[in-house]
Amino acid sequence: MGQTDLTSPLWGEGVSDPVEAFLRRRHKEEDRRKERSHTDAMDEVFDRRTLLAVGRFITRGLMTEVDFSISTGKVANVFRVSSKDGYRALKVYRVGNAVFRGLPPYLLHELREEVGSNSFARLVFAWVRREYMALKACREAEVPVPEPYDYHRNVFLMEFMGEGGLPFPPLFRCEVEDPERLLNDLTRAVRNMVTRAGLVHGDLSPYNVLYFAGRIALIDLGEVVAREHPMARELLLRDAENFTKYFNRQGVKLTTQEMFDRMGGTEL
Ligand SMILES: Nc1ncnc2c1ncn2[C@@H]1O[C@H](COP(=O)(O)OP(=O)(O)O)[C@@H](O)[C@H]1O
Ligand SMILES: [Mg+2]
Repeated sequence: MGQTDLTSPLWGEGVSDPVEAFLRRRHKEEDRRKERSHTDAMDEVFDRRTLLAVGRFITRGLMTEVDFSISTGKVANVFRVSSKDGYRALKVYRVGNAVFRGLPPYLLHELREEVGSNSFARLVFAWVRREYMALKACREAEVPVPEPYDYHRNVFLMEFMGEGGLPFPPLFRCEVEDPERLLNDLTRAVRNMVTRAGLVHGDLSPYNVLYFAGRIALIDLGEVVAREHPMARELLLRDAENFTKYFNRQGVKLTTQEMFDRMGGTEL
């Protein structure tokens, strides 16, 4: 009693240095803890029905497995997944009333009208479909967004925007070499979205723009509205305000009105 048994499994068999043994054991525990929290996160997101929805993508040959979580949001989680044609991004919307707490009232109202029901699940499915359709329309209008591949219930699969297996960072985390060029690219993208795809993003900010090698991709189109929508002007103005502040900080001087006009505001 009171003696440390260095041959006990507690220390690892045959290890004579107790410090080394202790460190080994601690690392093992850390690994196990990490694994557990990863599994918990997976369990929380992938309930039975969500797994079935993902299974459908797998049986259709659109993906083979889930690799890792890229982002955990209030509304959705995004994962990198593999397919026989390379990586893809899987967005899994949460199904539950918490999702709707942060939702703008105009959007909830529209989804309710569309679904004709108050079922949270159905509202989420309609929302996923909305983001998917918006991405499709943007691709057709040559707006730089990830290509959408398929959607089902609360999940959808799209192009993985990344390099070397890692996702591109959001603009707010990037150092931009040529802000003037970025301004041109961004305003062209948004203007095309308004005039050619007929959509206003509704939640555009440096968080929802990915930036890589001087290029951009707009993401997170769940809050889009048609350009005819009564809120369209107000939403574009808010997006323009966000980016005016951003560009002013980057040393590019322009007013919100100029930004709004360049983003296609004159067409609304
Ligand atoms: N197609 C994609 N390719 C690579 N990363 C992505 C892709 N879509 C989203 N992401 C990553 O996931 C994060 C969250 O995605 P987003 O669509 O903005 O969801 P949320 O509603 O949680 O904000 C993004 O900031 C980005 O880092
Ligand atoms: Mg986002």
